[in-house]
Amino acid sequence: MQRAGICEQTDTHAVKIHDTLLLFGATGDLSQRYLIPSLIHLLRDRLLPTGFRLIAIGRQDYGQEGFRAWLHSQLPDEANRHREAFNDLLAGTEYVAVDLGDRASLASLLSRYADRPCVHYLAIPPHLFVPTCEGLQEAGLLDAPSRLVLEKPIGHDLASARAINAALRSFLDETRIFRIDHYLGKAPVQNLLALRFGNTLMEAVWHNRWIESVDILVAETAGVDGREGYYAQYGALRDMVQNHMLQLLALIAMEPPNSLDANSLRDEKRKVLRSLRPMTAADVVVDSVRGRYQVGVVDGRAVAGFDHESDCETFVALRARIDNWRWAGVPFRLVTGKRLAQRTTEVVVSFKPVSHWIFDRPPGDGAVPNRLVMQLQPDENIGLGLMGSLAAPEWGATELQPLSLDLSMAATPQRRIAYERLLLDALHGNQALFVTGDEVEAAWSWIDSISESWRAASLPTQTYPSGSWGPVDAANFLPATVPDKMRPVRKP
Ligand code: BG6
Repeated sequence: MQRAGICEQTDTHAVKIHDTLLLFGATGDLSQRYLIPSLIHLLRDRLLPTGFRLIAIGRQDYGQEGFRAWLHSQLPDEANRHREAFNDLLAGTEYVAVDLGDRASLASLLSRYADRPCVHYLAIPPHLFVPTCEGLQEAGLLDAPSRLVLEKPIGHDLASARAINAALRSFLDETRIFRIDHYLGKAPVQNLLALRFGNTLMEAVWHNRWIESVDILVAETAGVDGREGYYAQYGALRDMVQNHMLQLLALIAMEPPNSLDANSLRDEKRKVLRSLRPMTAADVVVDSVRGRYQVGVVDGRAVAGFDHESDCETFVALRARIDNWRWAGVPFRLVTGKRLAQRTTEVVVSFKPVSHWIFDRPPGDGAVPNRLVMQLQPDENIGLGLMGSLAAPEWGATELQPLSLDLSMAATPQRRIAYERLLLDALHGNQALFVTGDEVEAAWSWIDSISESWRAASLPTQTYPSGSWGPVDAANFLPATVPDKMRPVRKP
C-alpha cells in the first residue's frame, strides 16, 4: 500500500529550507520525550539541512556544558543507541537561558540569530505565546521568511482561540504559522488519505448511500499522570476531541481535495468542521456521555482513580452529525478515554446491509455488516469484514459466515515519531500537515456547543473503573471491535 506523498506546497516560501531552529521550552517534557529525539533521528538519517543549527532555549541557567550534561542524563537511551547523531546534534546546539516574560532581554539575547531565516518552535504554555512573539519581533526574528510553530492548545474555547489567532496574525501571516496536531504527523493517519483517495473501491462507496455509521476510537491506558491541573481545566473533550479526533474525522469525511497542496487539503477539512451540527442541551443528553476513571486494574497493575474537585471528564463519547450531502443521516461516534482496557486508535466504517437478502442461513437479520476497520496504533492494521460461504455442498444450503480480509502491510517500514515528519515539514515550509486558524476556530465552535450544553443540561460525569471500556451509558457508543463481553453493563 502506498503512503500519501503530502509534499506539495503552494506558499511563497515553499522552496526555502530553513536551517536554524529556535526551540523554546527545550528543557520541557515535550522536548525531552519527542522533539530532541526526533532531531537526533533526522540527523542520523541525514535528513536535516546542511548547516543545521539548534538554538535550545530554556529557563534554567545551564551553561553550554551544563545543558549537554543535562541532556545526556535525560536521554541515556538516545545517547547510547545513536551516539554519533547525539554528539553531532549537541555539537551544533547552543543553549540560551531566557526569561520569556522579559521582552527586552529576550530580544537582546536572541537578536544575533536574525542573520538567517529561522523556525521558532514554541513548546511552551500558551500564555507565553504572545510575550515570546513580542520579543522575537523586537529582535527582527519574525521577519519573513521566518516561521512560527505552535503546540496545542490554541485556547480553551472559541473566544480565546480567536484572540490567540488574531494576536499571531499581528506578528506574521498565516503562511508562516504552523499549528501542530501531532496526529497529522503519524504515518498511519496519512495512510487514511492514501486509502480514501487512492482507491476506486473507496471512492464508489464513501457516502451515506452505502455507509451506515463511522466510529473513531482513541483509547488510552495511560492516566492523567501529573497533568491534573491542565486536565481539570480541559477534560477529554478539549484535550482530545477538539484537535486529534476532529482532525481524524475531517480526513475521513472531507470531500476529495483537487491536489495534496496545503491549501486544497486544509480547505476541505475546514468545510467538514464547519458542517458539524452544533449540539443542544436536549442533544447532549442522548448523544454524549462523560466519564471519569476510578481505581481499577490496567495491564495487570492496580491504579488510582482521578480525584479532583472539578468535574472534568477523562472519558467522552459523542454522536456527531455532519450536515452536508455526503453525510446526512450517518452518525459519527467519537469515543476517547484514559485508563481504558486497551491502548488502541481505530476507525471503523460500517456499511449498510445489501438491498435484498437471498440466503436462509443466516437470515437477513443475522448478517454481520461489511466493515472496514483501520487500526492506526499501537499497530497498523487494516481489515475488511465480508460475508462469505464456506459451506460444503452436502449441507444442501449455502451458509454465510463473517470472513475477514486482512489488508495489513506485511512489513511496516521504519516507524517514525510523528514529530520527525512535522519538524522536517516546518523546516521545508510545507504546511499541509499543520492546522489553519480557521480549522481551529471551526473545531472550537462545535466543542463550545457541547460544553455549553453540558452545563445547560447539568450532564453529570459518570464513573468507570480503570481498565474498563468506560461508563455503562457509553456501551452503545463503542465500535463493534470491542467484544460484547467487555462492554460495560449495568449491575442488576
Ligand atoms: C496529547 C494529549 O495531545 O495526545 C494527551 O494532551 C494524550 O492527553 C496524547 O495522551 C495522545 O497522543 P498519542 O500520540 O499517545 O496517541
